[in-house]
Amino acid sequence: MLDQFNRKINYLRISVTDRCNLRCRYCMPADGIKWIDHSRILSFEEIIEVVEEAVSLGVDKIRLTGGEPLVRKGIVDLVKMIAEVPGIKDLGMTTNGQLLERYAVALAEAGLNRVNVSLDTTEAKTYKYLSRGGDISNVFKGLEAARRAGLDPIKINAVINSESGESAKKQLREFCEENNYKLRFIRQMSLEDGSFYPVEGGEGGICKICNRIRLTANGDVKPCLFSEDGFNVREFGARNAILNAVGAKPLSGKKNKVNKFYNIGG
Ligand code: 5AD
Ligand code: SF4
Repeated sequence: MLDQFNRKINYLRISVTDRCNLRCRYCMPADGIKWIDHSRILSFEEIIEVVEEAVSLGVDKIRLTGGEPLVRKGIVDLVKMIAEVPGIKDLGMTTNGQLLERYAVALAEAGLNRVNVSLDTTEAKTYKYLSRGGDISNVFKGLEAARRAGLDPIKINAVINSESGESAKKQLREFCEENNYKLRFIRQMSLEDGSFYPVEGGEGGICKICNRIRLTANGDVKPCLFSEDGFNVREFGARNAILNAVGAKPLSGKKNKVNKFYNIGG
């Protein structure tokens, strides 16, 4: 489907949970975010309905995000259900990798094509600091498991900011080159201030070629990461929520004070 600026919309990002097993400093407060109430979280059946409508309207690329998608109970079943919808050419996931070793094979067997793994540093201590407690060895083991499982390509998402040193970036580049991971640098953004940047090595953040819409865990179809509009599928129905979101897609992103990265999925 085309939006009002003639952009072809074929990419749906689905946040399957607002929960996460890490607390990255740029994403979540150390404690005390109020999780979405369970009753408002879309069931797998509701998500599939959105996927089917989206595919019938021209979506052929799907990415599961969070929070952390692998903490959603039954995530492998959901991957399988989505992969079985005819018309999907590309099914990916963005994960922090903490649980990837455990799930990589099952995800690949369920029909997941590829993963993007968030990793901002190659140093264990810095990783623990940035993620407030994460264990970098889990990410390394997860990446290896993903490779063995045949997930391909494997991309690394590294969030950087003005304080990130050249040497940290160089270490990431070397790590990715050695292991054949595709590296993308994502400048730290602020939804509130409306500050965003093109993703170095990726397609995000370039409004004129944007092909995305988003579904939040509680069922809002969002036209843009930096838009406060949202059309809830329980209120509008899946098809009309999608059509409204595409119709409301702004020429370029503005601000978003209603969502956070952990509930819109970056
Ligand atoms: N700026 C840019 N990216 C962010 N993410 C989380 N918070 C931010 C932010 N402030 C990214 C993570 C991950 C995805 C879930 O969103 O790095 O790749
Ligand atoms: Fe969790 Fe990802 Fe946010 Fe880190 S950036 S707290 S891993 S959702």
